[in-house]
Amino acid sequence: MELKAVKGMHDLFGPELERWAVVEEQARKVFSNFGYQEIRTPVLERLEVFSQTVGDETDIVQKQMYTVMGDESSEKLALRPEGTAAFMRSVIEHKLHQTGRPQRFYYYLSMFRHERPQKGRQRQFHQFGAELINDPSPEADAELIVLLDSFLRALTITEFEIRINSVGCNDCRPKYKELLKDYFRPHLASLCEECQKRFERSPLRILDCKKPGCRAIAEKAPRIVDNLDEACTAHHTQLKKRLTSAGITFVEDPSIVRGLDYYVRTAFEFTSNLLGAQSALAGGGRYDGLSARFNEPPFPAVGFGMGMERVMLVLEAKKALGDIVQVPLYYFAALGPAAFDILYPLSLSLKRRGVKVEMMYEQKKLKDLLKAADRSGARFTVMLGDRELEEGNVPLKNMKERTQENIPLGQLEEELFRRTTCV
Ligand code: HAM
Repeated sequence: MELKAVKGMHDLFGPELERWAVVEEQARKVFSNFGYQEIRTPVLERLEVFSQTVGDETDIVQKQMYTVMGDESSEKLALRPEGTAAFMRSVIEHKLHQTGRPQRFYYYLSMFRHERPQKGRQRQFHQFGAELINDPSPEADAELIVLLDSFLRALTITEFEIRINSVGCNDCRPKYKELLKDYFRPHLASLCEECQKRFERSPLRILDCKKPGCRAIAEKAPRIVDNLDEACTAHHTQLKKRLTSAGITFVEDPSIVRGLDYYVRTAFEFTSNLLGAQSALAGGGRYDGLSARFNEPPFPAVGFGMGMERVMLVLEAKKALGDIVQVPLYYFAALGPAAFDILYPLSLSLKRRGVKVEMMYEQKKLKDLLKAADRSGARFTVMLGDRELEEGNVPLKNMKERTQENIPLGQLEEELFRRTTCV
């Protein structure tokens, strides 16, 4: 047996995982600021949770689910390919929607899709998702878009476009579907094989096809935003107004129809040119009727899912990872046992006060200590040997600027602590 992780799934450790942790922390902070509370659902759900909701014709349901046998041989379970359907199952099970009040949830979970792996596309990937239930207003949709925008900007990511569309509702979409079919019918032979299959049942998905031939035809197709009913038009207009007044720049993109079936009205994607073929950083929209697919009365809901791997790829592409990584602030290098006896308890004391310190516990030569300090990425190195102890002055080296200052030994802890509050 080859000892290798399963194709499309990856180990995370070391500096890479540390960078993830910084981004995760930022995400949790933004979600919390916007009033979203965490929810975690199990990794396995009954297959129907997804097959009844995501859509028979979608790639997820047709070919991407990992299934497992349940207790009864007839019972099939699936590894969660997306969070929304599982979230909805949980909401209904715990009657969270029955308060009637708007409620905000977020999750950070692994998702599993049996796709062909490529850059930005994995078989196990991680999604931050946000879901807001019991609020039908376009202001709720706008809030989610502003939240996502805030999160990306907090990470210094500005290289993205917000693409919005409306996919209408069960009243106006069927009429639009017929209109679309009338448009595509004469072009059927020129569409790709997949789009020809989509034509009958999911003509909207043709708008989403990335193949140049299909794209050229789809570009001239009637736009759904021109064929919405009055209520959907008003919702879409108000969303755009709210986004504009919040200072959000967006583009209207009629090709945003989403690869999942449950959306009504608002559909949106955040894309980035830094990502290559898999350009979607995040996607979401409104899914008011989803609960009905579990035979529950419908209630309003809106949300998004954001791919962590893709956020990390953007940070890597713009070489911003160094800026966001939390490195140990101080590296302590003790030359000899007397210096060690001072620096070791001092390192623990500072750690307990929340200061990042890294220290080599093994006795090493000066050359090796300097190398280790460099490698640690610390901003400052505290170097203490017998001579410094005698003089009562400790050199503090700024590793980036290559400068040095001396701190009186008796004031060392307070001086180091003070610096962490102003760097
Ligand atoms: P989705 O568009 O399928 O939506 O996925 C959301 C995001 O997950 C994508 O924009 C992308 O960043 C990331 N993603 C998807 N597939 C992969 C993959 N194979 N490898 C790496 N990243 C991937 C949903 O899943 C909906 N549940 C979003 C939602 C929440 N809508 C309403 N609420």
